[in-house]
Amino acid sequence: MPQTGLRLFTTLAALLMSLSVVPARADDPVGKTLSAKAGVPWPAAIAHRGASHDAPEETAPAYLLARDLGADYLELDLQRTKDGVLIAFHDDKLKRTTNVAQVFPDRADQPISAFTLAELKQLDAGSWFNAAFPDRARPSFAGLKILTLDEVIDIAEGGTHKPGLYIETKVPAQFPGIEKDLKAKLDQRGWLAARPAPAGFDASKTVGIAYTPGRVILQTFDKSSLELLQKEMPTTPKILLLWLGEDGITPKDTTTKAPPGGPELAAYYARQEVKSRDEFADWVRFGQQHGAIGTGPSAALANGGDQSYADLVQPWMNELTHTAGLVIHVYTVDEPADFKAVMARGVDGIFTNRIAELLAFQGRAPATPSKADILARHKY
Ligand code: G3P
Ligand code: CA
Repeated sequence: MPQTGLRLFTTLAALLMSLSVVPARADDPVGKTLSAKAGVPWPAAIAHRGASHDAPEETAPAYLLARDLGADYLELDLQRTKDGVLIAFHDDKLKRTTNVAQVFPDRADQPISAFTLAELKQLDAGSWFNAAFPDRARPSFAGLKILTLDEVIDIAEGGTHKPGLYIETKVPAQFPGIEKDLKAKLDQRGWLAARPAPAGFDASKTVGIAYTPGRVILQTFDKSSLELLQKEMPTTPKILLLWLGEDGITPKDTTTKAPPGGPELAAYYARQEVKSRDEFADWVRFGQQHGAIGTGPSAALANGGDQSYADLVQPWMNELTHTAGLVIHVYTVDEPADFKAVMARGVDGIFTNRIAELLAFQGRAPATPSKADILARHKY
């Protein structure tokens, strides 16, 4: 090879080494090739609400643990306070995961948008976890605060690993203009422009998704929100989340109502089927035509449970999605048997509450300190 060619090759190789997204080869799985094209890692390990099996969802220890374990992405649900601050919180009400009923007894059923940030910061977002999961409880979880988006970004930026952000606009109809607010915040924090890796950064040892084009992935179940996200942030990767039922893909059986919860719920969803191949294809096409790089379908889990929904990762569905040029990030999978099953079906990334276990399944966490060590290091 001539010297100029060698120099070019060496420079290119060094550049690729500094990135976490490896270029595709001809014999790669189709989803790996599509992921590389979209600038996102394959297979992606997405810490759903942080390391939320081991710490209260969307709180500091959940995100610190996910980051330090080596998650590719910190996932969060975006909402907005009455005084306009973007926060990370899943439910549209506060009751399940805070003590709102004690602190604001007359307002426990009000939506997040009815509370100022100062009011939300008075709530305890950790004690519910200790009560619900005594085997994983820690006294230090009591009194944890709801986090702002800024605080989650601080965590993403603050460790040795540099994960990406995987942000869902949650109940976006309740927050007109939230897509624009999100763009302003990400822009202000420098996450919409290229973030080059520092000299000597070694992506084979350290997560560096924040330095790649896939540093932010935007996700939504809401078609209108996808359109607004595309308008505001046309070059940022987006995922259209898929759901079978109300406000989602139409099922074959529209007469039987879902039970309120418990084991019957998983059984109900396991029986549900999409109305038709065309109905599924319409959702994929909508995503494709409105800037999505992929879909985020639900899965039916081997042992049921309250995260087991309609099986939207059937082989024909995945083939159709890949043929449309879209990647597939499935939610929310926590058990090794299910990791194996969905990967065998050809998905390209997994949302999980058990990020340590997913990374171990992927063979990516051999030298990671234990979860207990990481939490102790952060004084939890
Ligand atoms: O964002 C993917 C997955 O999180 C969707 O479900 O309800 O946990 O936000 P949910
Ligand atoms: Ca979510």
